[in-house]
Amino acid sequence: MSFAERVFSGVQPTGTLTLGNYLGAIRRFADFQDSYECLYCVVDMHAITVFQDPKELHRNTLGVTAAYLAAGLDPAKNIIFNQSQVAAHAEMAWIFNCVTRIGWLNRMTQFKEKAGKNRENASAGLYVYPSLMAADILTYKATHVPVGEDQKQHLELARDIAQKFNHDYGDAIRTQTNTDEFFPQPEPLIEGPAMRVMSLRDGTKKMSKSDPSDMSRINMDDDADTIAQKIRKAKTDPEPLPGEATGFIGRPEAENLIGIYAALAQEPKLAVVDRFAGTQFSEFKKDLTELAVSTLAPVSDELRRLKADPGHLETVLNEGAGRAAALAAPIIADTKAIVGFVGA
Ligand code: TYM
Repeated sequence: MSFAERVFSGVQPTGTLTLGNYLGAIRRFADFQDSYECLYCVVDMHAITVFQDPKELHRNTLGVTAAYLAAGLDPAKNIIFNQSQVAAHAEMAWIFNCVTRIGWLNRMTQFKEKAGKNRENASAGLYVYPSLMAADILTYKATHVPVGEDQKQHLELARDIAQKFNHDYGDAIRTQTNTDEFFPQPEPLIEGPAMRVMSLRDGTKKMSKSDPSDMSRINMDDDADTIAQKIRKAKTDPEPLPGEATGFIGRPEAENLIGIYAALAQEPKLAVVDRFAGTQFSEFKKDLTELAVSTLAPVSDELRRLKADPGHLETVLNEGAGRAAALAAPIIADTKAIVGFVGA
């Protein structure tokens, strides 16, 4: 069966947002707002799988909301809301915890990375995090999910959960809805030159807000001087830039900076490789700094302006939550009926 096309994505309100979050996800969200029905969520329930200071969680939730708006999302066209205001996410997540297999969760690389050596001390929430993520998407029967490369495995798990639910409850689905499939198989949208932006200090590590070194990342609210300094100090190698894609083998830092340039300029990576073939890093970094500052400055100015009015951001989230809850209501009601729960 075919499902109406709907886009869903989410960002965790933990710490400051990085250029990775911006290029890999947030900036791309606006591309869908004119052609799809879109839901963009601030996933505060995911955030507390690792302890968050309550005041900071509150501030960061408004901060991600501001980033959505600063990146060009129109709250009238999109449903912008925070996860904890729509109870259906938690209800669906519980049902999915009973569908997903422990073996599937054990394969999740993000859990292994985040829990690290001290697995016994990680929260149970961190372990079942991917089933809450599947619930976020499928509570709206979303079909398309724009994310960075690091979320690919979680999306595959969401597809497995949808399929297993459709299979295990097949008879009840046919009785309840007259169709064979209740949930769609959500498609990850992972396209473009910056789906995995790497650390400025180590081209083999993902740029991340949890990296202890602030020099490893560009933050969405860094000022021009800070951006310039971080790019100037970014790790490189002694060779000039290569003239073809194969020239990046074994040169992850060079590849990362070219990818960032291409994403900021919204040009194909190969066109950028061509333009800078044979250029020294010192020259290339000047151009990259200019481009990064001119692209990010309007966004960070807008971000600051929006953050100064928390009341407005709260209104956006509250209104969005009302609209999201209305979309979720018939889907969670059908899901509960399919499972066999008694209720009106
Ligand atoms: P989060 O909050 O870690 O990251 C938000 C988005 O930014 C992308 N991203 C990157 N992209 C490219 N390069 C990087 N270095 C980089 N770092 C982060 C992420 O891929 C993501 O798209 N589990 C999700 C949030 C979530 C979600 C969902 C996403 C919860 N429920 C439902 C989609 C659908 C997360 O932790 O993203």
